[in-house]
Amino acid sequence: MARETEALLLRDTQKDLFFNPQLAVETQYDLIYIKNQVILGWPLGAQRLFAELARENTVIIIGVALGDEGKGRLVDNKIKFLLEIPGVQKVVVIRFQGGSNAGHTIQIRGENVGLHQVPSGIMYAETVGIMDRGMVIHPEDLITEIGYIEDKVGDTRGKLILSSDAILVTDLERAEEVLNTIKQKKAAGGTGRGIGPAYAHFYDRLGLNIHDLMDENWRETLGTQYDRYEKEFTAFGLDLPNVLVPDFKETKRSGKSKTRTVGQREEFLDRLEDARKKLIEKDLVKNTFVSHTNIYSDLSYGVLFEGAQALGLHAWLGTRPDVTSSDTSMDGIKTGTAVWRGQDILDRIGVFKIPYTSSVGVRKMPTHIELPKDLADLPETATDEQKRAAYIRVKAREKGTTSGRFRDILHLDLEMIRYNCRMAGIEVLAGTHLDIAREGETIKVCTHYTNGSGERVPYQPGLRYLNGVIPHYIELPGWDGEAVAKAKSIEELPDNARYFLAFIQGTTGYPIVAVTTGPARENFISVPDREIK
Ligand code: IMP
Repeated sequence: MARETEALLLRDTQKDLFFNPQLAVETQYDLIYIKNQVILGWPLGAQRLFAELARENTVIIIGVALGDEGKGRLVDNKIKFLLEIPGVQKVVVIRFQGGSNAGHTIQIRGENVGLHQVPSGIMYAETVGIMDRGMVIHPEDLITEIGYIEDKVGDTRGKLILSSDAILVTDLERAEEVLNTIKQKKAAGGTGRGIGPAYAHFYDRLGLNIHDLMDENWRETLGTQYDRYEKEFTAFGLDLPNVLVPDFKETKRSGKSKTRTVGQREEFLDRLEDARKKLIEKDLVKNTFVSHTNIYSDLSYGVLFEGAQALGLHAWLGTRPDVTSSDTSMDGIKTGTAVWRGQDILDRIGVFKIPYTSSVGVRKMPTHIELPKDLADLPETATDEQKRAAYIRVKAREKGTTSGRFRDILHLDLEMIRYNCRMAGIEVLAGTHLDIAREGETIKVCTHYTNGSGERVPYQPGLRYLNGVIPHYIELPGWDGEAVAKAKSIEELPDNARYFLAFIQGTTGYPIVAVTTGPARENFISVPDREIK
């Protein structure tokens, strides 16, 4: 079979699967679990589908579940990979959406450092991180975050660029999340980092950008914003200076979630003035339009777009109310950089957790597993799936890096993953947490939905719709998670782990190209491209 045909066939498989996955489920089960035929990886030599349009050495990494898939690990590995390509001397890591609602922990010289607004890869000498115009940036927290990073890696001058067009978040937008909760008479559902209000005011044009903070007359501009907010708070009987907002500095220092008050007008402006001074001192703020145009044509740069949140949290394509306010798909890079388009990217990777999915928020997705907040309250009569979910929560430490909240555990939902992959624009999958499984257990995987009349219905974002679907499951055998953590290659994985991966590849139509097998950096297996007969 011609190599190009392989790639086209994959695309057709994805289309067929989208409309009729049951057939694939039966065929794949038979091939893999009965006949031991395991197909994994991208077809060797097959052209990426959009290769002619794309720029060389470009990668995008996006979550295709409901967030917290472990994207940081994949980004780390891809930076290394890009740097090994002959001729590539630097890698530019670009964050194009989101802000301090994102969070993951990386290890620098054996110590854990949390990243929120700063792009990954900061610990490599050869990387430059761009916080681009699609991001929402809180300057004070950014300076605190950079301070922690510099304690570990030294001066970051020249390694970080902040777009002058990025959207500005201050404590005012954070306070507004509190006000929104009062207006709605229920939690507004954000991380409290001001993300929703900042994006909302980008659209209604009431908000500000980083360049407004850099202007000479910034105190006047931000003072006017403060006055406007104060008036609105007063109308709701609230005293703006006393509203509590997250205190990142104290939270970092104490390791516990801390808050502080917005403060009086001058206090608010003085805090911003400190941050502004540091931004200037560190020469962080640039016109990234110019940087991108230079980078695009210089092939000594590898380029990695680091997605935050996930397709399942996309403002339009995720399931409300627990969605963020940005375009988390590959298309987000167009608005988030104003130079790059999805078509420009060669390597498009979707990340998901292999044996389960996790989620934060209040909504209950179709494959939600009910667990008490405190696992000590899990009754003796708990079902096997609840016991498995409890094991996952503890073993995989399913607690948000940013929110500190416990995450919900869900059965892997292939109906949702297929939709998310398609809408994210990815071409291949990388799976994480392959070690979170036990020999002898049963892992339920949702293969498709039906409606009340037994007809097959597809995933569609929105609880109003999803509350009416009935998920259908296949039960697959678990595997020894400890053996997974020791494996150095796909061949060394326990059979049931390989079968499970092949089943996901076959029933989503997206090749699996990498898996993580444990928390350490070296717990990583690249799936070699497969030979085409
Ligand atoms: P916001 O992005 O702070 O407005 O939060 C909106 C929703 O998205 C909330 O339910 C958050 O918990 C969720 N969310 C935002 N960022 C992340 C993330 O990086 N991982 C998981 N959930 C997130």
